[in-house]
Amino acid sequence: MKRRAVFIALLAAVLAAAQAEPFFDAARGRTPIDKETAPPRLLNQINDDQRLPRNYRYQPPVIPHRIDGYQVDRNFNKCLDCHAREKSDFSQAVPVSETHYVDRDGKVLTHISRRRYFCKQCHVAQEPVAPLVGNAFKGDAGDATPLPAPASAPAR
Ligand code: HEC
Ligand code: HEC
Repeated sequence: MKRRAVFIALLAAVLAAAQAEPFFDAARGRTPIDKETAPPRLLNQINDDQRLPRNYRYQPPVIPHRIDGYQVDRNFNKCLDCHAREKSDFSQAVPVSETHYVDRDGKVLTHISRRRYFCKQCHVAQEPVAPLVGNAFKGDAGDATPLPAPASAPAR
């Protein structure tokens, strides 16, 4: 009987300790694990036109301007309106790199390669938010070895 009382007291203490420490996760906040979190509101995308350094050599550069409302579908690609190599002299946008004109067989095309058509697969606009979790990743952006250039790409 006495042992049972001790056991119950212990159990109560353990449960109290578990309750005393509320669940917290940086990505979920205080929402219990069995409840859905409310998604944070979308903010205005960063639009300061400051190109950001890349963290590693083959990183697709992030987009330093807003892109909401830009149409990209089979009929029209708003990004290419400014970023196509033949448009960039006029638009002052960074021309897409030569790699974007190479198809999967290594053939250099006169138009953007189909595998690069949907820009937002790889390039993303930024939001002015603090990272949810710390990250000590160190890239190799210091490696300035130029990318292998294809034989020829459309002139700018
Ligand atoms: C109205 C012209 C215009 C349109 C449309 C446009 N951009 Fe840009 N983009 C620019 C300019 C100009 C820059 C250079 C930095 C700046 O001034 O914002 C730039 C910068 C960038 C960069 C950074 C390049 C680097 O090396 O740092 C990326 C990536 C990019 N844009 C992707 C896109 C994508 C993807 C779209 C379509 C969803 C798009 N842009 C639509 C004008 C445009
Ligand atoms: C499959 C992924 C992918 C897609 C899709 C893609 N890009 Fe890129 N992009 C990259 C990577 C990776 C780089 C950096 C290495 C390089 O230049 O190839 C890059 C580089 C760029 C740069 C910087 C060029 C420079 O010289 O600094 C611009 C601007 C750009 N892309 C725009 C675009 C636009 C506009 C589209 C859509 C028409 C697009 N990209 C589609 C992956 C992609």
